Amino acid sequence: MLKLFVCQICGEPHLAVSKPSDCQFCGAPERFIGMVEDYSTLWGITLTAEEKRDMEATLELEVNATAYYRDVAKANEKYEKYERLFKGLARVEKEHAEVAAKFLGVTLPEFTGEKSKGDPKADLERTQKLETHAAAKYREFFANATNQKTKDFYTALIYAENGHREHAEAELK
Ligand SMILES: [Fe+2]
Ligand SMILES: [Fe+2]
Repeated sequence: MLKLFVCQICGEPHLAVSKPSDCQFCGAPERFIGMVEDYSTLWGITLTAEEKRDMEATLELEVNATAYYRDVAKANEKYEKYERLFKGLARVEKEHAEVAAKFLGVTLPEFTGEKSKGDPKADLERTQKLETHAAAKYREFFANATNQKTKDFYTALIYAENGHREHAEAELK
């Protein structure tokens, strides 16, 4: 029988027989996925000045990553696997941008950012760098955060971005 699970990080529903291991929308780890009855929104809290500044930086990083991965997916239409991979990455980053915008209470900006570096290897190397940088920033933002919900958001982001970096690294081998 299908059950209704909800991701505590992005709030997206999962109709599934059993609990998914990672959120298919935002990449949060299993411990953040629960039954719909236990769900409460992550955003809607008052951010400290420091959290607000960091959340704005988070939104910028996620908007750029979304735009970049979308462009790479478009550039790789002839390499089916990479088109799929970067489309998947773009979706997750877009979900992160949406949550950051909700925390800030702002409308989602246009997805503009960097462009494909021209070949899959260069793009995978750029992905590795972007994800390493993002995870390092989010560790910093986690340390600055005082609200538990902000901390949970960064915990999930660090997990998701590390997974992206590891995947890019494995593709480069
Ligand atoms: Fe999620
Ligand atoms: Fe992200």
